[in-house]
Amino acid sequence: MAGMRVLFRRVIDSGVRPRGVGREDNLSKRWRSSSAAIPSAFFDGDKDFSFLHSLPWQFLRASDSANFDLETSQRKDVLYNHDDGRPESRIPDSLSQKCVSIEKVVAENDKRCKILWNDGKWSHHDFEKLEEQYLSWKQIRPEDRILWKNLTEADVRQSSDLSIAFDKLIADDGSGMSRALKTLYEYGILLVTKTPVEDNGAGIAALGAALSGGSVKDNPSASLLANYRAGGTDVVLPDGTDGPLRTLYGGVWATSSAGQPDGTSVADSAYGTDALPLHTDSTYLQDPPGLQIFTMVRPATVGGESVFCDGLAVAETLRSLYPDVFDILSKTNRTFHSKDEVTGWYLKATAPMIQVRHGRITSIRHNDLDRLPDLPPNGEIGAEAIDAFYEDLESAHRKWDSLIADDEFRLVLKLEPGDTIVVANQRCFHGRHKFGATANSPRSVMGCYISQGELLSRFRMEGFDV
Ligand SMILES: [Fe+2]
Repeated sequence: MAGMRVLFRRVIDSGVRPRGVGREDNLSKRWRSSSAAIPSAFFDGDKDFSFLHSLPWQFLRASDSANFDLETSQRKDVLYNHDDGRPESRIPDSLSQKCVSIEKVVAENDKRCKILWNDGKWSHHDFEKLEEQYLSWKQIRPEDRILWKNLTEADVRQSSDLSIAFDKLIADDGSGMSRALKTLYEYGILLVTKTPVEDNGAGIAALGAALSGGSVKDNPSASLLANYRAGGTDVVLPDGTDGPLRTLYGGVWATSSAGQPDGTSVADSAYGTDALPLHTDSTYLQDPPGLQIFTMVRPATVGGESVFCDGLAVAETLRSLYPDVFDILSKTNRTFHSKDEVTGWYLKATAPMIQVRHGRITSIRHNDLDRLPDLPPNGEIGAEAIDAFYEDLESAHRKWDSLIADDEFRLVLKLEPGDTIVVANQRCFHGRHKFGATANSPRSVMGCYISQGELLSRFRMEGFDV
């Protein structure tokens, strides 16, 4: 990526580093800075387990590997009647043991450790998993996503990170899937070139399958990707476990300025020719799609450029410049809806625009066109507080809008036939410029969605902590 006019900012603290680089050194330094009084029991040779000193013993005891089934990973320490399923009472460890403390920690290997407690019990743990939970809980987890701005079309097309050919992405050895998932985790956006567009959506469904479902893709009756690799042309499988999310727009959808398939919803401004402001898709779903896969079949003759924006970069900029505004947008519930009388859909969801867990932004839900008028919190609230509620929100949106209107946050792409943009929908926004089209030369695109739950599953299998 050398030479790109890109500001790749790694944020939150100055100790961040690319994933997998210097991990143990950095972590050890963090612990040592506050581990002056940590007993020697938390050190095994050169292994530093001092972070365990900060984790509640109730959590550590419950996290003992012995409490989980090896095959299903489900908990084994839940007591219930095995005939009728009723819960059975028990005295929990946390009540029966008031003064449990760690006697010593022993490294079993590079990933596992065991803890000896003062009541004689040993517990066994995945050391790396505990690290991740500790860093997240203490809100000192390094940011390993790359916030981008000042990105141009040439940057994207010339980047071996941000761009990949369709054939490479679906390659049999899985290397393309891993590369694509890494880029989507780090940047939230990926250009896939040379996507087939004359196969009734089979290639797009296969692309969706490559980024969803289980990571093992060897069963053609369960995986659309395996099916495609074997020469299949399906866009949905009766017993499929990966592929496009089914929504009110269908599975693999097609949007043409010349018309839509019967029975699918067209109650959205996307079906016109006007510009579309930057937005998240399907904010009215309880859990909006994780990926939007958008393939250009036939570009507009005039205009129609696609616009993208790293919402995470915008939100972090907002947090650093206007922490009060960030607070408002991350704590005020907003309601989004989609209503289509013709096809009988009425979807509605309520959540803050910016969702944060342990200080880390996990999801952004931004669509001004689908957001309903706000109501202040219910209860005893005076006229002044009501006015302040609306003034604060108006002020917050003015600052938000001033950022996403700035060219440095707007990536503009002129997509060619076969270009697919894959967008992490709960992170990056998309929009478009106005376009001109005629009945004889319509602008047409195809695409599909992937569920957020399936995307996060794929990220975890690639080793990313989400
Ligand atoms: Fe959209």
